[in-house]
Amino acid sequence: ALNERESLFVVSEFAKKYFHDVLLKTDEGLAIGHSYFKERGFTEETIKKFQLGYSPDQWDAFTNEALAKGYKLEFLEKTGLTIVKDDKKFDRFKGRVMFPIESMSGRVLGFGGRILTNDKKAAKYLNSPESDIYHKSKVLYGIFHSKQEIASKDNCYLVEGYTDVIQMYQAGIKNVVASSGTALTPDQIRLINRLTKNITVLFDGDAAGMRASLRGIDLILEAGMNVRVCTFPDGDDPDSFARKTPIDELQNYLKENATDFIRFKANLLMKDTGNDPIKKANVIRDIVVSISKVPDYIQREVYVQECASIMDISEDVLFSTLAQIGKKEL
Ligand code: CTP
Ligand code: MN
Ligand code: MN
Ligand code: MN
Ligand code: MN
Repeated sequence: ALNERESLFVVSEFAKKYFHDVLLKTDEGLAIGHSYFKERGFTEETIKKFQLGYSPDQWDAFTNEALAKGYKLEFLEKTGLTIVKDDKKFDRFKGRVMFPIESMSGRVLGFGGRILTNDKKAAKYLNSPESDIYHKSKVLYGIFHSKQEIASKDNCYLVEGYTDVIQMYQAGIKNVVASSGTALTPDQIRLINRLTKNITVLFDGDAAGMRASLRGIDLILEAGMNVRVCTFPDGDDPDSFARKTPIDELQNYLKENATDFIRFKANLLMKDTGNDPIKKANVIRDIVVSISKVPDYIQREVYVQECASIMDISEDVLFSTLAQIGKKEL
């Protein structure tokens, strides 16, 4: 007999195929799901590559099909694909376009489902619940398709969302994964660390994206990895920006706007400090705290030199601040 995790994988694989077939082979799937992806600029090849799908807008179409094929309700429920309530069964992803989330080795772990209406009360994305096979803090969307390119380019672009990965990949920038909206976690960073030591954070060009970038930086540094940040104009994310930008320009933009984390923090945090020396001091302290996360002492020294030059302050005082921070954390 299959063990339980294996059963969850099997039912998830079935669901992926089912949603993909509904998208490509049914009137409803074609009219609603497929045309939605077309409008977003996704090609047939992309839709196949990422096995995108559509879940019919009926209460239990998927669940009935799965049960009829012999899949057990127990596993449909444990993967969250089916919700059982008062003996009634409901499809979790009813009426949504589907993004299968794959492991590093290409196994389906769970799904993200996007709503198609502009109903502000419903969540834009619904994701699989935690299960024995899906732990959202441990997965990176896109990693199965991007792992080789991440290793060969020796850099990983880290974006926020499913569509950012897909649009960048389609544009030809294939070394890309998404944290999928959760705050970046040490487990996710470890996955990337197996492929490269270099991460370029490409979060959305809004306040939330900036905050998330700041939080991510220290975690990446603690892992002993190198982090650069490239920001987008407010209102853009990698998906919208990649879609409207020719590939040469996009590549140029990424190259010219990716800055190391010190410059990113300095630019961002100095925006509203003006000439206020107290605020400037706080920015410097903030950068030094990030530098204190770097395990390698040679790198630390290089970062201190850069911070000193950008912020126009002596290296000595930065080093003694570093030493102070080290003591406080002991
Ligand atoms: N997300 C989520 N649940 C939500 C909103 C967002 O899980 N209610 C996750 C999704 O993985 C999403 C990512 O956070 O892809 C980034 O969120 P956001 O920028 O709001 O969405 P986009 O990816 O830009 O989605 P779209 O372009 O389809 O609007
Ligand atoms: Mn795939
Ligand atoms: Mn966002
Ligand atoms: Mn976004
Ligand atoms: Mn978007």
